Amino acid sequence: MATSIQKAKRLLTKMTLDEKIGQMVQFGRIKLNEKNLVREGKIGSFLNSRNVALVNEVQRIAMEQSRLKIPLLIGSDIIHGYVSTFPIPVAEACSWNLDLIESSAKHAMTEAAADGIRWNFAPMVDIARDPRWGRIAEGAGEDPYLGAQIAKARVRGFQAKGKNGYPLAAACAKHFVAYGGAEGGRDYNTVDMSEHVLRTTYLPPFKAAVDEGVMSFMSSFNDILSVPSSANDFSLRQVLKGEWRFDGFVVSDWESIEEVIAHGIADDRTSSALAGLKSGVDMDMHSGVYHDHLKELVIKDKKLELLIDDSVLRILKIKYDLGLFEHPYTDPNLRDEVILNKETVEMTLKMARESIVLLKNEALLPLSKEQKIALIGPFGDDPHTPIGCWGAEGNHKNTVTVKMAFENAGLDFVIAQGCDSIDPKVEWIQEAVDLASHQDIIILTLGERQDMSGENNNRAFLDLPGAQLELLRALKKLNKPIITLLFNGRPMTIPETVEKSDALLAVWHLGLSSGTAITEILFGDVNPSGKLVTTFPKTVGQIPLYYNHKRTGRPKFRRYIDCDEEPLFHFGFGLSYSNFIYDKLIMKKSRLGKKDKLEFTIDVYNDSDIDGQEIVQVYYRDLLAQVTRPVKELCAFEKANFKAHQLKTLSFSIPISQFGYYDPEMNFIIEKGNFALWVGPSSIEGIASEFTIR
Ligand code: NOJ
Repeated sequence: MATSIQKAKRLLTKMTLDEKIGQMVQFGRIKLNEKNLVREGKIGSFLNSRNVALVNEVQRIAMEQSRLKIPLLIGSDIIHGYVSTFPIPVAEACSWNLDLIESSAKHAMTEAAADGIRWNFAPMVDIARDPRWGRIAEGAGEDPYLGAQIAKARVRGFQAKGKNGYPLAAACAKHFVAYGGAEGGRDYNTVDMSEHVLRTTYLPPFKAAVDEGVMSFMSSFNDILSVPSSANDFSLRQVLKGEWRFDGFVVSDWESIEEVIAHGIADDRTSSALAGLKSGVDMDMHSGVYHDHLKELVIKDKKLELLIDDSVLRILKIKYDLGLFEHPYTDPNLRDEVILNKETVEMTLKMARESIVLLKNEALLPLSKEQKIALIGPFGDDPHTPIGCWGAEGNHKNTVTVKMAFENAGLDFVIAQGCDSIDPKVEWIQEAVDLASHQDIIILTLGERQDMSGENNNRAFLDLPGAQLELLRALKKLNKPIITLLFNGRPMTIPETVEKSDALLAVWHLGLSSGTAITEILFGDVNPSGKLVTTFPKTVGQIPLYYNHKRTGRPKFRRYIDCDEEPLFHFGFGLSYSNFIYDKLIMKKSRLGKKDKLEFTIDVYNDSDIDGQEIVQVYYRDLLAQVTRPVKELCAFEKANFKAHQLKTLSFSIPISQFGYYDPEMNFIIEKGNFALWVGPSSIEGIASEFTIR
């Protein structure tokens, strides 16, 4: 049996230059007047057409009426669910549950594939250290190790095998690279970082995606090392296709090849196409510069056809790997079977439960169902916000709001909005306060609407919008317990909200089972288990603020005269209704050779009457190195289930390569020396130990 690449090579020999270029061209939503181009083999891919009949119709033209019968590849953004909406990715990441995250990705992709979508522009694996950046919602947070594990899980889920034995879809690791480093958190902005930081912090999740067999990459909008990513020989040819031997293909972001003109490194569309081709961007998303100009470029310089051949081979290989030549069409009846089916909807609930992070609990939660509740705030019955920033085909009509879930649970409650989520008008506050004054407890929904995070939804202020804080202040005067549910797409700067709330949960934009998951946690049917994957600053002036910052020469100096440098909530932090006690960190060996593994056990005891889950985190510090290293770095974790009063001895085995780093010449080295180790419930707690690499 010929392999995909052999088949692709054979096909390539039959292709005209026009047909080759056609494979490198991606158009937007399918338009009927583009049928002729498909027939002529001048389009290889479309994006964002989510209609199975239309997809099959154009596929039929490609398969029956074009000369070489090369199937089209239909791409779309399935970021956190398709019709069944899952929690936004940063929320899912807070579960630290890799199996669940993989399963969420698989369910989302199964639904989308039923509409003929066989290529997903996900996972977004950008490290994000700046919560002003709206796209922090789409990633897995600030840590490269956790980000790498989650990148792999999502790739496995999206590329899981479908019924015909081929992957459901090709995943796409994006945005390559360092897109999350946008200056000032302003989307699409310039990125300025050293190659060292790039390799240490921003590249690992991408490398992990390659190791997991991701089929495609997307080049980003930003520049990196002063060259736009979609014309960047270093990131694409040297690192991705060279060092990492990536054998899939690279698509540009939306018109990002043409945008190199605006970046000022090409003076017209033709030279932008040349820059994209030379740097290794294999497919042009939407701008048409490859469609319009690659041919004239090859006529002028025949050698360029070799680059085109390489790109086309990569694209064809993936089309073969996906089984598209054998199974080009999608059974239109599949939708009925998979869309919003019971199992998928249940999966949205499981994922939502574990995405919630309990950030404060003054012995108030879980609540008893007997109390009279006031459900106040703009999000209590808002079905739109939980749909999140990448709604895809998600429909707010499928959302279970908190109000609906309270009704389903037969709770005794009254409801008032109190204020709008954005508008600063205060007229409704008094009515809400009056209503709440007759109740036992207040459950207050505060936060950000879904359109305040995600692409190009950056914020300069990260506090509660509109009159939300005034609402909280007014309710506080009632002297009743307040439980705040924070509907957030990012870390927010809310110290006063934390202080005035007796309990606080980050509930994010949680998808269609939002209200059910929240209610189960409030009343103790489910024990919260999420932990933060992004630091919450106290104020915007502290940004960037992340746990794995570098060591400096003057660590004890105060950084600000008007604010301390402690975050509001640390990376890895999250409470449970159980109380976990860590004890007996026992190292198997603390002097290790370079081929050894760091092996140790830790006892964790659930000192409570309630079953729970704990995310046990392992951090280390390299005490002496040739370059400045972070104060702490996550190097392993395990999420484990505990019965009430159960003691577990957990074993860890970490390869020594995990403790390597890039030297000043960018060689990855494992160096002899001493290391500090911590095992605990967050990035600032834990039992300390040490080890040596000899
Ligand atoms: C632009 C976004 O940056 C990218 O993430 C997305 O995949 C494309 N648009 C296509 O929708």
